[in-house]
Amino acid sequence: MTNAVEAKDYILKQVDQAPKIGLILGSGLGVLAEDIENPIAIPYQDIPHFPVSTVSGHKGQLVIGTLEGQLVVAMQGRFHFYEGYQMEQVTFPIRVMKALGVEQIIVTNAAGGINESFKPGHLMLIEDHINNFGTNPLIGKNEEELGPRFPDMSEAYSKRLLQHAKQVADSLNIQVQQGVYVGNTGPSYETGSEVKMLRKWGGDAVGMSTVPEVIVANHAGLEVLGISCISNMAAGILDQPLTHEEVMETTEQVKEDFLRFMKEIIRTLPV
Ligand code: HPA
Repeated sequence: MTNAVEAKDYILKQVDQAPKIGLILGSGLGVLAEDIENPIAIPYQDIPHFPVSTVSGHKGQLVIGTLEGQLVVAMQGRFHFYEGYQMEQVTFPIRVMKALGVEQIIVTNAAGGINESFKPGHLMLIEDHINNFGTNPLIGKNEEELGPRFPDMSEAYSKRLLQHAKQVADSLNIQVQQGVYVGNTGPSYETGSEVKMLRKWGGDAVGMSTVPEVIVANHAGLEVLGISCISNMAAGILDQPLTHEEVMETTEQVKEDFLRFMKEIIRTLPV
């Protein structure tokens, strides 16, 4: 039995119904899981083969239950490559979600704005990403039953779910941006010169997560919606240093809009 199947079996023993939608909640955005009804919270450390989360602002549990009438599994806190986890560990929860029967995932993160028309506090729908991790979570032997050796990434972020999110934003009067997310390893923030380069590459926002999970989700045939909370302007754009505190403060400020937005997306998510 694979590790993901063992983890899945353990999780299914704790819940009545298998979740259909996976939620990966980024820095400061884990509050959404607090609104899940009839929640079963399973600490990562209890799940076979699950890594354990270390960064502040990340809780480290799966929460399974009903949100806006939909069966969801939320990761409250994720695993980052910069914490020293292997790519296989960073993306393990996606494999487990797939094994649980999840078909769609919504991935969220805090990111620095590269596009100068963005402002801290904006939400950005991710239309595509640039993998700048210098590695790929699918390197190694391919398990054919999990997905193809050379998975297509031409629609890594579902156009249909992006369209859905845009309509929801309109209906709620929430301003959203749309753009390309660049995934860097971190943990240092970028230099001003790196940010200039990323802008030339076509990046609109930069962060230290999401790309590995989305690659594995595509490999597994999951449909992906990605949302960045622009927590700060990337280095060199404003004449001020970046701090993790600023990132956490901004996500705290947009929390209400983020929650309203996510809930309505989930309530009306097309199957
Ligand atoms: N750079 C990289 N990762 C980030 C940033 C940033 O400016 N803000 C939040 N996560």
